[in-house]
Amino acid sequence: MTKTKRIGILTAGGDSPGLNAAIRGVGKTALGFYGMEIIGFRDGFRGLVTNRRLRLDGSVLAGILTVGGTILGTSRDKPHRMKIDGRARDMTAVIVNNYKKYGLSALVCLGGGGTQKNALRLTEAGLNVISLPKTIDNDVAMTDSSIGFATALDIATEAIDRLHSTAHSHHRIVVAEIMGHRAGWLALGAGIAGGADVILIPEIPYHVDKIVEAIRRRSRHGTNFSIVAVAEGAMSVEDARAFVAAENRKEKARNPRERNDAKLELAAIEARHAGNTLRLAKQLEELTHLESRVTILGYVQRGGTPSPADRLLATRLGSACADLIHENVFGVMVASRGNGTEPVPLVKVAGKRKTVPPNHSWVETARRVGTCLGD
Ligand code: F6P
Repeated sequence: MTKTKRIGILTAGGDSPGLNAAIRGVGKTALGFYGMEIIGFRDGFRGLVTNRRLRLDGSVLAGILTVGGTILGTSRDKPHRMKIDGRARDMTAVIVNNYKKYGLSALVCLGGGGTQKNALRLTEAGLNVISLPKTIDNDVAMTDSSIGFATALDIATEAIDRLHSTAHSHHRIVVAEIMGHRAGWLALGAGIAGGADVILIPEIPYHVDKIVEAIRRRSRHGTNFSIVAVAEGAMSVEDARAFVAAENRKEKARNPRERNDAKLELAAIEARHAGNTLRLAKQLEELTHLESRVTILGYVQRGGTPSPADRLLATRLGSACADLIHENVFGVMVASRGNGTEPVPLVKVAGKRKTVPPNHSWVETARRVGTCLGD
């Protein structure tokens, strides 16, 4: 008689709409279609260390498709550097032991870029790991899209739509900060869909005078308001230059001291960058003489019920994940490819980031319709 497969599942990194839909997709296919057992671990990789778990039977999986957040809880803990009693410790061996103790045949990790790296680390430690891509930033490499992005795009677009009323009625500049530290997919997508006049993303450093020029041009044509959609990681040309130089120094460091100095410099640049949106709005007000206001969308973009597009994506990826476990395919991320799915080796995903190529069709489209990208 063949042994019933028991699989573990966890959600790690920032929460995202569609995580529960993915847990349900994996769970229903694994339980109902293949007759496997499934255990959820709470709060990301920490649950595997502290043995905090939840048996995912039919009743737990029912009714979660439309629920935001994650029923398992999440954290940004890393297996190899987990804070235990205030001290960072490598807990990989504990995770490997617990995996064996629970008789798991596979571990499913749902998360963004950091989670893909951790999934690879656990694969290298000998576990059967399979991952799913989740992030509203849409920057996980090797997949067309990630769970959460579609919903966040809807939310950010609706916010820009609503901001138009005040901008238009009060003849103001409204600067809307959209999530995305390293990738501008969300700001670019929502900016195009919401008809923002200026879109600033991390991949295209901006010149303040170019933005001012675009806003003045609108005023000359009788339009005394502008919407600026800015990704939280968008940088001026000067800041981006300093950041890239520090990153290069870190890459090329010849000893731990040089590396540490470069890391400190990067941290200082990032600290200076916090509050950039407020500074930018002030600069634009001073230079254009138009009143400006800031709206930071923040965690609203990650909250609430997933859109139909995300429910569909999460269910497709989750179900395909259970198929791959049945076929004993591990060490892969289940990627979305067109209407289908594809297992991509974790080594090809981990440590990579899908940023917006400067010649991407969305960028070209934005330019064609007269949107200023700050360059
Ligand atoms: O999930 C990605 C993301 O939403 C980024 O856009 C954002 O910068 C980051 O998470 C912030 O998340 P937290 O404050 O939860 O760490």
